[in-house]
Amino acid sequence: MPEIAYVNGKFLPLAQATVPVEDRGYQFADAVYEVVRTYRGRTFALDEHLARLFRSLAAIQIEHHYTADQLKSLIGEAIRRAGFAETMIYIQISRGVAKRHRRFPGGGEPMLVMTAREVPDSRHLREHGITVVTVPDNRWGRCDIKSVALLANVLAYQAAKQAGANDAIFVSDDGAVNEATAANVFIIRNAELLTPPEGPKILSGITRIKILEAARAAGIPAAERRVTKAELQSAAEAFLCSTTAEVVPILAVDGKKIGLGPLTPRIYQQFTKMFAS
Ligand code: PDD
Repeated sequence: MPEIAYVNGKFLPLAQATVPVEDRGYQFADAVYEVVRTYRGRTFALDEHLARLFRSLAAIQIEHHYTADQLKSLIGEAIRRAGFAETMIYIQISRGVAKRHRRFPGGGEPMLVMTAREVPDSRHLREHGITVVTVPDNRWGRCDIKSVALLANVLAYQAAKQAGANDAIFVSDDGAVNEATAANVFIIRNAELLTPPEGPKILSGITRIKILEAARAAGIPAAERRVTKAELQSAAEAFLCSTTAEVVPILAVDGKKIGLGPLTPRIYQQFTKMFAS
């Protein structure tokens, strides 16, 4: 089954897809993106993902003519053409191609790039869990925008690998836990589910919102409030969540062990029952 891309109005095999050198996404990370997946061949929470994409575009003032219906039909076509059992769609919109200069180019067209690949299998991680380290949050001040400028995330992930862990969690100087390099963070304390609140320090994940709904539906109290590094390190349970990884339990934070259940699997089961089956 082919991995495919959509660039400049055309579908083509992913391996043949290229973007121009002067695309502002390439030169300046002047672009935003979304990652959408299917369950049983149907897109999951597409309206929410597109609403966030439009919010990100507006936040960085990319003027565009795309409508949700147009994007939905392109995404549907990409899924059909790729033909995977479950597809992961990456959508990136940049400010377009222009001579390299910091000012916004006048009258240019944004560049829409999409890829369709098979959803990576996250079962092993979900069943066995991961270890994480905390790192200082040295990202920019608008992490609520889904920007492609992810260098700090790349370096934090690499630092985690070099420390023998699977991922890193960004923590502000005042000790507030923000999020992981590509996922939101949840902890369980006193049988209550806690996650850091929305704001400029996190990308509010679509999965995060659905997990809060699923936990409440399973009768588990859930709150969005400041979580400290000390609370994370001494949590009864903790997990990461994202579109591609779904729910991944955390086994240890900075070398301190955390329990694997029982609430995390219950929340995941409820999430699957409500949204993923
Ligand atoms: N990333 N926080 C960050 C920094 C992320 O990059 C992501 C997702 C999330 C979770 O968002 P959602 O539940 O809407 O997927 C939180 C995607 C999957 C990625 O970059 O591949």
